Amino acid sequence: MSKNPMSSPVLPLQRPRYGVDAPAFPAVTAAAGAASCLAAARWRRGRIRAAAVGTLLLASTGVYLHTTLRGKLRIWKQELDRIGLKGDEHLLDLGCGRGAVLVEAARRVPAGRADGVDLWSRKDQSGNGPAVTLANAAAAGVADRVEVHTGDMTSLPFEDGTFDIVTSAMAIHNIPSREGRHRAVDEAVRVLRPGGQLLIADPWWIARQYADHLGQGTLRPLGAGYWYGGPWLGITLLHVVKEPRPEGTEPC
Ligand SMILES: C[S@@+](CC[C@H](N)C(=O)[O-])C[C@H]1O[C@@H](n2cnc3c(N)ncnc32)[C@H](O)[C@@H]1O
Repeated sequence: MSKNPMSSPVLPLQRPRYGVDAPAFPAVTAAAGAASCLAAARWRRGRIRAAAVGTLLLASTGVYLHTTLRGKLRIWKQELDRIGLKGDEHLLDLGCGRGAVLVEAARRVPAGRADGVDLWSRKDQSGNGPAVTLANAAAAGVADRVEVHTGDMTSLPFEDGTFDIVTSAMAIHNIPSREGRHRAVDEAVRVLRPGGQLLIADPWWIARQYADHLGQGTLRPLGAGYWYGGPWLGITLLHVVKEPRPEGTEPC
């Protein structure tokens, strides 16, 4: 694990830029949509079907780009406002990437701290890297309370009960095995203090698996603003409040 790695110089930003999630995905749907529309313009037979497929793919690309560039930011602002932060919390964002959630959370804890953990995969987010995340924090004026760590969500480098809030946006589902994803969810609960809150946004069917695995939490679809192309890839929020310790008991 390394802290605040600034290995590559990044020019100061005027405002944060959070990149595109899984950039290959909209690139493929846009190319396939454009190819279908071109085929519709040239073909005699099957042109209506090609035009319909092309239009659907291009529309889906537009919805995807709206989500990754704007929709998810608006929704996370609402969700962070909803949990009633006091402003002095210690927060952890799992799979923080370029900091879309981390920076918004840090804005809400002027007397607290916001830590992010990531492996910085550029397949999962364009231009991903710790220096970019820190540049975004600086552009938002919250660099004083943000720290980034290179680490794996399935084995977090933090003590039990360290954080008041743990968030994760579109990150845990990237772990290939179900067992690995459940280990990440267990790690999130482990590092949360009793009474702390866990918020995980992931595709709806995977978020359900986390809730089943934990045997607790509420699930809520986050709406069309968080569709990666359409309702078939809609995002659901799992909200868990960690059981407080029974009164009079202390950790060993
Ligand atoms: C789609 S991006 C989302 C980033 C950010 N949460 C957001 O909403 O903008 C997924 C992130 O998860 C990170 N990631 C994937 N697997 C990881 C793992 N096992 N441990 C830590 N980070 C991981 C990727 O590097 C990437 O930054």
